[in-house]
Amino acid sequence: MKITICIGSSCHLKGSRQVVEKLQELVKKNNLTDKIDLAAAFCMGNCQNGVCVTMNEKMYSLSPETTEDFFNNDVLPSLVAPF
Ligand code: FES
Repeated sequence: MKITICIGSSCHLKGSRQVVEKLQELVKKNNLTDKIDLAAAFCMGNCQNGVCVTMNEKMYSLSPETTEDFFNNDVLPSLVAPF
């Protein structure tokens, strides 16, 4: 599964770097490096919504503070039941 994090300038200012680092850490911690592909993308045209992340064609708005919740509530469940 691929998770794409926007590293465009607006998202960068909102902490995309920390979001990427946090996701990398969580993926490693959960031994999911072979299941989750983290990728970076430039501006997704949704700057006002904070750090934009897409997974399974769906867009999420994250901040460094909500990254862990996103991982637990959205990433992990979709690995269990992929669609
Ligand atoms: S910079 Fe991330 S959506 Fe524009």
